[in-house]
Amino acid sequence: MFSDESRFCWITGSKCREDRENAMLIKVVLITGCSSGIGLRIAVMLAEDEKQRYHVIATMRDLKRKDNLVKAAGDLYSKTLFVAELDVCSDESVKQCINSIKDRHIDILSNNAGIGLVGPVESIPMDEMNNVFETNFYGSVRLIKEVMPDMKNRRAGRIIVISSVMGLQGVAFNEVYAASKFALEGFCEGLAAQLLSFNVTLSMLEPGPVHTEFELKMIQGMKEKEWPSVDPDTVNYFRNFYLPGAVDIFEILGQTPDHIAKVTSNPHFHNLTNPLYSPILALKYADETGCLSVQAFYCMLFTLRPLMNVGMPVLKYLTFGFMRKWRISPN
Ligand SMILES: NC(=O)c1ccc[n+]([C@@H]2O[C@H](COP(=O)([O-])OP(=O)(O)OC[C@H]3O[C@@H](n4cnc5c(N)ncnc54)[C@H](OP(=O)(O)O)[C@@H]3O)[C@@H](O)[C@H]2O)c1
Repeated sequence: MFSDESRFCWITGSKCREDRENAMLIKVVLITGCSSGIGLRIAVMLAEDEKQRYHVIATMRDLKRKDNLVKAAGDLYSKTLFVAELDVCSDESVKQCINSIKDRHIDILSNNAGIGLVGPVESIPMDEMNNVFETNFYGSVRLIKEVMPDMKNRRAGRIIVISSVMGLQGVAFNEVYAASKFALEGFCEGLAAQLLSFNVTLSMLEPGPVHTEFELKMIQGMKEKEWPSVDPDTVNYFRNFYLPGAVDIFEILGQTPDHIAKVTSNPHFHNLTNPLYSPILALKYADETGCLSVQAFYCMLFTLRPLMNVGMPVLKYLTFGFMRKWRISPN
């Protein structure tokens, strides 16, 4: 499974005593969804560690898509970074990949693989919704189920889950995606407390918009798409209010995958990577009826859009240098 079997054996196998001792200090990291975006950057960042503390197993469901990762890893490919096949939606694929790792030993599991879904709910077929849950929610659960028992036995391990700010706050026309991330948040909140007694830490990252293929995959083709089963008002809101707004938000507030990767080096339990989203969440928790938050989103989406067009660049200018650096630093 690993692209360079001999070097993989060097890290975990039996060449000489000194190598074995070094191997004890090296943390084995398994990351899902490394063909692009955040997963790719986390994998390369760890592989580039100056002290070479990580043996990175960067997984993806389709090895034909490994070129960007291999290019980004450069000389580190087959030294500190190895590529393996893993489809988070398949029990068999997950088992096969984990079983191929020496002693199934994983110190750090990073659940990153995920897909988005936007559009009016009434237009989305149930199997597309299932696919989002199968990937975003059950995909992470499947990996955790497979890796967690060994971590518990060893009384050591770290699990990182890439959730989303939409796992904390629902957003119109992203209902199913948000629901899959809410499910993940609930699952992790329960598990984190249990795992502490086994010295296993669980953290979630809640990024806002990030410039990756994710945005393209989601929004591509939406403008031209027909919506025969949806009423004209909803189509109008989606096409003429939501979509242009979403593109602006990605452009103006979007972070880079590197920003997100850096947060994984020393995460808290919750990690809202973009501080510009803190006020929105504060609003949600400040009003227990929830009405304030729903009204605020309604205004942002439908009535205050022209104001936001002016406001967002100003917001970005005012906060970019100061707040972002202050909150995003891994330390
Ligand atoms: N970008 C954002 O704005 C944003 C914001 C908040 C949270 N997130 C979360 O961040 C994570 C990474 O997304 P990204 O922004 O880096 O997007 P991305 O560039 O599209 O990367 C997603 C990765 O997940 C992989 N993947 C999808 N289905 C899979 C499966 N069944 N098995 C294994 N891998 C699978 C994709 O592989 P293929 O190449 O084979 O499709 C790709 O490598 C996701 O969980 C996403 O929900 C993203």
